Amino acid sequence: MVNYNAKFSSFGSYAPKKILTNADLEKIVDTSDEWIRTRTGMVERHICSENEAASDLAYNAAINAIESSAVKYKDIDMIICATISGDHPFPSTACIVQKRLGLKGFPAFDISAGCTGFIYALDIAKQFIENGTVKNILVIGVDILTKITNWKDRNTCVLFGDASGAAIVSRAERSDISRIIDSFIDADGSMGEYLIQAAGGSRQPASHKTVDENLHTVFMEGNRIYKNAIKSMYAACDEVLRRNNLGTNDVDWIIPHQANLRIIEGLADKMRIPMSKVIVNIEKYGNTSSATVPVATDEAIRAKKIRRGDVILMTSFGAGLTWGAVLARY
Ligand code: ACO
Repeated sequence: MVNYNAKFSSFGSYAPKKILTNADLEKIVDTSDEWIRTRTGMVERHICSENEAASDLAYNAAINAIESSAVKYKDIDMIICATISGDHPFPSTACIVQKRLGLKGFPAFDISAGCTGFIYALDIAKQFIENGTVKNILVIGVDILTKITNWKDRNTCVLFGDASGAAIVSRAERSDISRIIDSFIDADGSMGEYLIQAAGGSRQPASHKTVDENLHTVFMEGNRIYKNAIKSMYAACDEVLRRNNLGTNDVDWIIPHQANLRIIEGLADKMRIPMSKVIVNIEKYGNTSSATVPVATDEAIRAKKIRRGDVILMTSFGAGLTWGAVLARY
């Protein structure tokens, strides 16, 4: 039952200082700046140092989001963290962030939906706000895929970067123009094997063999994912627009997952949205998995591209396979 509306109070983001350029990658694998730029749109990406973990990035993005809002630390009453590269399998990265923020007395949990994680987390947060359970939720997307990358596999190692983005999702006042209008999430587990970290769970626990065979790193059949990416993001966007009697002309900004510039352009083309309305920062970050959408949104807000009252449409796809979209008036 919907008793209240949810809204975005603020966004925040954080990326590690160290930068890995396409030229750096040319020294690691048989690739070229030209191939990476033309096939993906990526130029550089931020990567963690050895002693940085997901909670470090998430903590900094969380502080950035909280301090950009009127919400006080003590007013946060739930943390949802989307990640597939958390500090540990358990405890959750959300609980580690809660401790670092000096907070307690409310639920904190992680969710796993690959690059769609932030969209899944927003969908969940929206419902907790709408049913009146809580008032302010810290939603985080964080991934450090460079720590589970096979640096000998040129098909994947050029694609990923590390970052975290966060949003404060709050109960809207009646007078607020800001509102999360709708969200939609979906999955097709039958395609799970195309994008997988095979070992380290209960199916193949860590062993010398799994390490020797590189099974703790990301395996991806890029082509198969590519084909589904545009189709699934388009379907999710179409669903939230259609059921709210809105068209693409009503959308001020689309913020898609930053996995490949060609995918983003393909989506814009299919939706008949000009690229001038699409937020793109893939050239600076690469694919930061669940962090791409909140980092891109935060940057666009700080650059005063996205303004209060604008209609924004966020969409993503990723491991699972999963996909989804969130439609909001910022
Ligand atoms: N440098 C140079 N050549 C390369 C590189 C590289 N880094 N990587 C692959 N190639 C070569 C391949 O070996 C192949 O050569 P061949 O024709 O001699 O066999 C050629 O380039 C073409 O390879 P494709 O895989 O067909 O290239 P494609 O145009 O599909 O681009 C890419 C690959 C960028 C991975 C693309 O398929 C893609 O973006 N897929 C989607 C990825 C994605 O979005 N994943 C989901 C999110 S991730 C998550 O959820 C964790």
